[in-house]
Amino acid sequence: MSQTHDRLLIIDFGSQVTQLIARRLRELNVYCEIHPYNRVDDGFLKAFAPKAVIFSGGPASVYWENAPMPPKGVFDLGVPILGICYGQQVMMHCLGGHVEGGHGTAEFGKAFVTPTALTHPFLHGWFPAEAGPQAQEQVWMSHGDHVSKIAPGFQVYGTSPNAPFAITADPERHFYAVQFHPEVHHTPKGAQLYENFVKLAGFKGDWTMGAYRAEMIEKIRAQVGDKKVICALSGGVDSSVTGILLHEAIGDQLTCVFVDHGLLRLGEAEQVVQMFRENYNLNLIHADEKDLFLGALEGVSDPEVKRKTIGKLFIDVFQKYATQIEGAEFLAQGTLYPDVIESVSFSGGPSVTIKSHHNVGGLPEKMGLKLVEPLRELFKDEVRALGRELGLPSSFIGRHPFPGPGLAIRCPGEITREKLDILRRADAVYIDQIRKHGLYDEIWQAFAAILPMRTVGVMGDGRTYDYALALRAVTSVDGMTADYYPFTHEFLGETATRIINEVKGINRVFYDCTSKPPGTIELE
Ligand code: XMP
Repeated sequence: MSQTHDRLLIIDFGSQVTQLIARRLRELNVYCEIHPYNRVDDGFLKAFAPKAVIFSGGPASVYWENAPMPPKGVFDLGVPILGICYGQQVMMHCLGGHVEGGHGTAEFGKAFVTPTALTHPFLHGWFPAEAGPQAQEQVWMSHGDHVSKIAPGFQVYGTSPNAPFAITADPERHFYAVQFHPEVHHTPKGAQLYENFVKLAGFKGDWTMGAYRAEMIEKIRAQVGDKKVICALSGGVDSSVTGILLHEAIGDQLTCVFVDHGLLRLGEAEQVVQMFRENYNLNLIHADEKDLFLGALEGVSDPEVKRKTIGKLFIDVFQKYATQIEGAEFLAQGTLYPDVIESVSFSGGPSVTIKSHHNVGGLPEKMGLKLVEPLRELFKDEVRALGRELGLPSSFIGRHPFPGPGLAIRCPGEITREKLDILRRADAVYIDQIRKHGLYDEIWQAFAAILPMRTVGVMGDGRTYDYALALRAVTSVDGMTADYYPFTHEFLGETATRIINEVKGINRVFYDCTSKPPGTIELE
């Protein structure tokens, strides 16, 4: 928990879009945390000491048995509260209003809210006066029940066809409640409502990356003291920012271990090692373990066996190097906020494992190490901003994600050194094409995969019998869902020609037009 900033508490009632509320607030330089309703009691509220509270939406009805409720004490804190969708309903329910379900109360998708005769600074920027009685704002609704009677003290500031109390407020107590979702993109002026709310609540907007960097450095020093820390560097943004931040905080007490498993892209290991050694002068162990990994993967073609083999070896190797660092008591990890948020589960039960992800999860307990996680409070784009703040080159910060198991999962079927070598060169040409056409930053992730098949071709009057290559490029926000990138035919044709001309061993190129779902981003 950040103790030096004004803090806003988001009580999560299980909405799919609660994280977006946090994003909107962070964009306003407001520090906030999301906590599930069933973990927030009066003791928690006292310890957290929020300057304002937001109730998220959620799938429940206030009339459900054991319906999710906020702690009673929240209304007595004397701080502004904003209720969204279910958050509005539960607020009215608790404060003496009424919620109704059934025919005519539901509203899903786009709707328009029109103002009443009342105005309030909460609506600053909405309903411009010049629009007169025609004023309306597009909002995004997603509710089954609706509020049918507002609680004493509340007034109505906006209505929509199926939500007579679309925007409500109790100006005296600074309680605000809306039926729609201002955090989503489809409520175009939604961000303005959050801005108005935090202004009314007196936030200074002091959550900046510069402040965060200084604060984190102090925290790391306080946590670590004069002890040693080890950090696994992958070359990705999260571990790089973690490493550099720690280096700035504790200098030589930090040793980074970069495990080269032989499944990296063309020139990647050299680039990573050079950047960290030369630009940052940090203690870096370059663990060249290609033979170990590629040896263990010989003859393995099952994707899960590949992933598990690499994951286990990674831990063994990391442990081997880490134990050489005498007195190491801490392990630094680039855990991000979305990995930390405990979500409210209404379905219950664990979700299906699609792929075993590569991480060093069990390592700290196994080695008796304590964790240092300086990015635990940040979203991915904030990590990038912190990276810029720390002077990481922008080419590094903007890099597409790269999976822990590396090229192993881009080489369906058996992995051989020959195939990896061909894949590396083909991938480099593909990425070069994307950069040359100025498309790199529009794409979430692009890569080549070498397919487990050879096809017949004809080159220079001769027969070829070479590998086929798949090209993949997707757009995505978080990697959870993705669309294939709509390259032009000219781009695809030019790229296929370049790859076949420049990379010996490939004589055919396919473009993967599968979105996620039903596909996944990686091939395995
Ligand atoms: P999938 O293939 O599951 O990938 O659609 C979603 C995102 O996760 C990345 N990915 C991984 N990242 N370790 C990682 O650090 C892994 O084991 C792993 N597997 C997939 C993938 O590149 C994409 O960005």
